[in-house]
Amino acid sequence: MSVATARAHVNIALAKYWGKRNAALNLPAVPSLSAGIEDLWTEAEVEFGPFAQDSLEIDGAPAEPGELDRVVRFFDLLRERAGTALRGRVRSHSHFPRAAGLASSASAFAALAMAGAAALDLGYGSAQLSALARRGSGSAARSVYGGYVEIGVSDEDDLAAVRVATAAHLPLDVAIVVASDQKKSVSSRRAMTSSAQTSPYYAAWVEGAPKAVVGIREALLARDFAALAERSERNCLAMHAVTFANDPPVVFFSGLTLQVVHCVRELRAGGVPAFFTIDAGPNVVVFFEPDARDAVAGALSKLGGTLRFSKVGGEPTLQ
Ligand code: PMV
Repeated sequence: MSVATARAHVNIALAKYWGKRNAALNLPAVPSLSAGIEDLWTEAEVEFGPFAQDSLEIDGAPAEPGELDRVVRFFDLLRERAGTALRGRVRSHSHFPRAAGLASSASAFAALAMAGAAALDLGYGSAQLSALARRGSGSAARSVYGGYVEIGVSDEDDLAAVRVATAAHLPLDVAIVVASDQKKSVSSRRAMTSSAQTSPYYAAWVEGAPKAVVGIREALLARDFAALAERSERNCLAMHAVTFANDPPVVFFSGLTLQVVHCVRELRAGGVPAFFTIDAGPNVVVFFEPDARDAVAGALSKLGGTLRFSKVGGEPTLQ
């Protein structure tokens, strides 16, 4: 086969990946745990052939040089593993605003890893695909599975994510408050590096992360929504506290981000089972029990931004 198409979904971390242990191999400094999102995905068609150079088309338009460079580096790795000099041609489509903090690199590199490995007949299983996707983007390692997925820490290049629970174990709905569909001003990669180099809170974050992930995993496995909510929100705010103290400081929140944070906390204080999380951008993802849909939609729709609803899921597919 020299052409293959894969669809991989966005995942949103309940326990965040923030910091690298090894930048060359893209190994995370902390474990993380995420939920796949059913209706947000990237589909990538990858073809390898005797082309003059690698090319990347995103939503019908040629990619920006920076985006292409990342894919070329990723394809260099694929070529090395397959022992080929063939060049790759990618056509990809995403179903969400790109680079606006909705973890588009996760779905994109997971789809590229799956389609690329298939196009080059590498014969990879899920663990190898996850480790390969990780080289493109740390969070992408988790998008090789749907449902609830965790990745630990290791010094080895075969570090891969594992599925902790299916979506059916704890079926949650999500509301995504798109506070901005603009490209974010600081990439997660740069902000993460700056945190490690300049934030006085980075060491405490790395030290506390293993225990935080265990707490979130245990709450998930016990279907203890209240504990999952408290622990996930705290982990998210701790990550953002680290970036606030970067030099120069990085504030991913907009005014609307904070309004949503307060709104969700008030909802939960009033008995509505919902909690928020925020990645490296202003958008907020609200997880809630399906019965709480009316209460969540009613409260969030008063705040502004664009609201999208989905649910935890997101099994990737390969054609
Ligand atoms: O995979 P990257 O390099 O885009 O980093 C993702 C970082 C966060 O989205 C903020 C957290 C996470 O675990 O997904």
